[in-house]
Amino acid sequence: TASSLSFPQQDAARRTSDADRARILAAPGFGEHFTDFMAHARWRRDGGWGDDEVVPFGPIRITPAAAVLHYAQEIFEGLKAFRHADGSVWTFRPEKNAERFAASARRLALPELTVEDFIASLKAVVAADEPWVPVVDETSEASLYLRPVMFASEEFLGVRAAHMADYYVIASPAGDYFPRGVQPLVVWVSESYARAGKGGTGQAKCGGNYASSLLGKYEAAEHGADEVLFLDSETHTAIDELSGMNVFAITKDGEIRTPALTGSILEGVTRSSILRLAEDRGLRPVETRLVMSEVLESLASGEIVEMFACGTAAVITPIGAFRFDGGEQVVGDGGSGEHTLALRRELTDIQYGRIEDRHGWLTRL
Ligand code: COI
Repeated sequence: TASSLSFPQQDAARRTSDADRARILAAPGFGEHFTDFMAHARWRRDGGWGDDEVVPFGPIRITPAAAVLHYAQEIFEGLKAFRHADGSVWTFRPEKNAERFAASARRLALPELTVEDFIASLKAVVAADEPWVPVVDETSEASLYLRPVMFASEEFLGVRAAHMADYYVIASPAGDYFPRGVQPLVVWVSESYARAGKGGTGQAKCGGNYASSLLGKYEAAEHGADEVLFLDSETHTAIDELSGMNVFAITKDGEIRTPALTGSILEGVTRSSILRLAEDRGLRPVETRLVMSEVLESLASGEIVEMFACGTAAVITPIGAFRFDGGEQVVGDGGSGEHTLALRRELTDIQYGRIEDRHGWLTRL
């Protein structure tokens, strides 16, 4: 079906000079710089979606009584636009993000946006901001991170689903997510906090899940770690996920294990793609309950040889060690595992158009 929204572009000058944009694209970091345009649409309970437009990126006016500021009725997504060698621009499995955005909307009692309208909004932003999609060579990685977000904007303090919501897509050039690049992560296992509970919003991509991870990240930093790992909230024994990334383990006899989707972890697009690519490589995917104490034993005995974190922003980043109250356990030899790096290479080769897109995962923007 066709999209109902067309996101016409407002006639406006770019705010960034060619020289400034080139300087930013030379070292983009993650989430620090924003492009010249953004897409916007507004939903009203009586009338549905409308007011779709592409406008200059910049501050928005919002009433301090907007429901989102009080009750956190908000969801977001993350995707990347990749430039191929012929100059064309592509994104990766956007229908998966669109479907997850709709599922998150249902959980947070926000209005749904169709898959077609979601993809139309991405195309509109990338068309306006095309010069912001980095040019890469055979070995480098840089992309334009796309961040759709929807929030309750109605001026109303009663606790009920808002009657007005705003949707934006902003874009930000992205290099490595972690300041140390693809170096193995030190991960702190939090015993003080959980990220999400049974029946809660762990499966939805809503800001609250990330807010609840922040103290855990502080705790990680206090222990010299890069990231925090949360355990399930009921038994505090099984691995859920990191602050914003899924977790994988590979055994010496070729199993690749990741926590099953229990309702309290996010169904990552990168996670599901890795399960396919791993199978193609002859690894045996297992979605299961990963009990942390057993994982530590398997690491000590050498049964688990590699572990990594994954997500759209982090791609695939090796885990080099776990720290916890009373100890540390190195993963493998503490370096980057062979399968981990091969999976990362294969995923990014597909995304940047360096090898055939054999699963049909790319959509041209
Ligand atoms: C992503 O990987 O796109 C995420 O959403 C993780 C984090 C940056 C919030």
